[in-house]
Amino acid sequence: MDAMEAIFTRRSTRRMKPGLPPREMIERVIEAGRAAPSGSNSQATHMIVITDRKVLDELAAIVQTAFAAMEVGPDAYVSLRNSVSASKKGGYVFHYGAPVLIVTANRRGYGNAMADSACALENMMIAANALDLGSCWINQLHWLDENASVRGYLEKLGLKADETVTGGLILGYGYDGQPVRSELKRTGNPVTWIE
Ligand SMILES: Cc1cc2nc3c(=O)[nH]c(=O)nc-3n(C[C@H](O)[C@H](O)[C@H](O)COP(=O)(O)O)c2cc1C
Repeated sequence: MDAMEAIFTRRSTRRMKPGLPPREMIERVIEAGRAAPSGSNSQATHMIVITDRKVLDELAAIVQTAFAAMEVGPDAYVSLRNSVSASKKGGYVFHYGAPVLIVTANRRGYGNAMADSACALENMMIAANALDLGSCWINQLHWLDENASVRGYLEKLGLKADETVTGGLILGYGYDGQPVRSELKRTGNPVTWIE
């Protein structure tokens, strides 16, 4: 698959097989993330790669508890409101039970932290598609960056005290063996040409 096909057929895959893809494939995706551009070539995006089922389950439980204790107003993002209301009902698994979760972090207070991380995440999503793996950006740990339980747990996994969680990504084989690739019409993202 060439680069353009990998970009144009990438979609978010949320339902995945529980089995881990081969380690070399996961590493290839991570290397694609590390190859992303960064402001001033800072190369400060830290990727915490979690494949340990026990850790994934514990993290899901901590996230559910954090959201269940949260009150959000009608102005909050729809997806944040959904996470909170699903957590209050119980059984909320923010990473959909995927076999791999890659958490991205960057220097706290660094102006390009989010942009650099987004470049790495997008590279990983495109690389995953090219390797026939599904992926989806997962934002809950970013929203809970200041939550003491979530931070405490992530710091035990290697998040540094001066880092902020910028996002995350799940990775794995789609439940039917393939990533989601059906077309999603883009009617937003307006373009203005000055010719
Ligand atoms: C910044 C950002 C945050 C996102 N957060 C989540 C998330 O937490 N959970 C999720 O299931 N999808 C998340 N997504 C995926 C979007 O829902 C998805 O990209 C969008 O609906 C378009 O669909 P597509 O990725 O299949 O093209 C996120 C995407 C981006 C770019």
